[in-house]
Amino acid sequence: MLQIDSVSKLYKGGDKALDNISFSVEQGEFISVIGKSGAGKTTLFRMLNGMIKPTTGSIIINNQDLAKLKGKKKRDIQKTIGTIYQDFCLVDTLTCFDNVLNGALAERNAFQALFGIFSKEQKEYAEKQLEAVGLSEKMYSYAGKLSGGQKQRVAIARALMSKPDIILADEPVASLDPYSAEQITDILVQLNKQYNMTVIMNSHSVELALKKSDRIIGIADGKLVLDKKSPEVTNEDIRFVYGGAYEKYE
Ligand SMILES: Nc1ncnc2c1ncn2[C@@H]1O[C@H](COP(=O)(O)OP(=O)(O)O)[C@@H](O)[C@H]1O
Ligand SMILES: [Mg+2]
Repeated sequence: MLQIDSVSKLYKGGDKALDNISFSVEQGEFISVIGKSGAGKTTLFRMLNGMIKPTTGSIIINNQDLAKLKGKKKRDIQKTIGTIYQDFCLVDTLTCFDNVLNGALAERNAFQALFGIFSKEQKEYAEKQLEAVGLSEKMYSYAGKLSGGQKQRVAIARALMSKPDIILADEPVASLDPYSAEQITDILVQLNKQYNMTVIMNSHSVELALKKSDRIIGIADGKLVLDKKSPEVTNEDIRFVYGGAYEKYE
């Protein structure tokens, strides 16, 4: 469903953030991307959701080259990808419900967008998504009042509004305590199992990555240095990805 083909990214100023990366992803896989800070993980994710273009190489989603698409065709592909972030990116002064509804913004016509009108179906669907992440009772609480774990649940519910095939999660649990981190990861696992949604997440918790995902992709200095099924990943592999700097994993 997703093919990353010889992708490199050279930022203005000369930093080569990604260097000839290739891998493909099947629908329904749960992949963790690991690597040191600055390895190029966020760059990869921003390319996968079409926010930036590769300098060379291509990203093929459902047989379409993302970098070559424009306008509605690009937005249609982008709708199939839901992204969540470390810092949640919610509007703190809106309720959880309104934050989730905002995930349907792309679906509205110009008239609806102008007057902030959502359809009954969209409202019902937003309620359902909050229920799915276990946050019904906080529906009308302001997002700013929630704990980190609760905020990330809202962000997941918002991402689900466009009925994505892929969830991209860029360090979704980096701001959370270990208990909430596992809970959030478990919600992603559940979406993966229940709806066969593809999940690509990146996490500094190697333990969590190995425990929850099917496959581990390691990036070091912009290069793909590891691509294995989780049970086959060794201590040596992990140390290699982290350039010998990783001690914790036993
Ligand atoms: N917008 C940007 N402009 C220039 N260089 C960037 C930009 N974003 C990231 N980089 C550089 O690209 C490399 C990879 O960064 P990033 O993808 O954020 O890594 P990670 O998410 O693994 O920490 C780093 O060297 C970083 O400094
Ligand atoms: Mg990053």
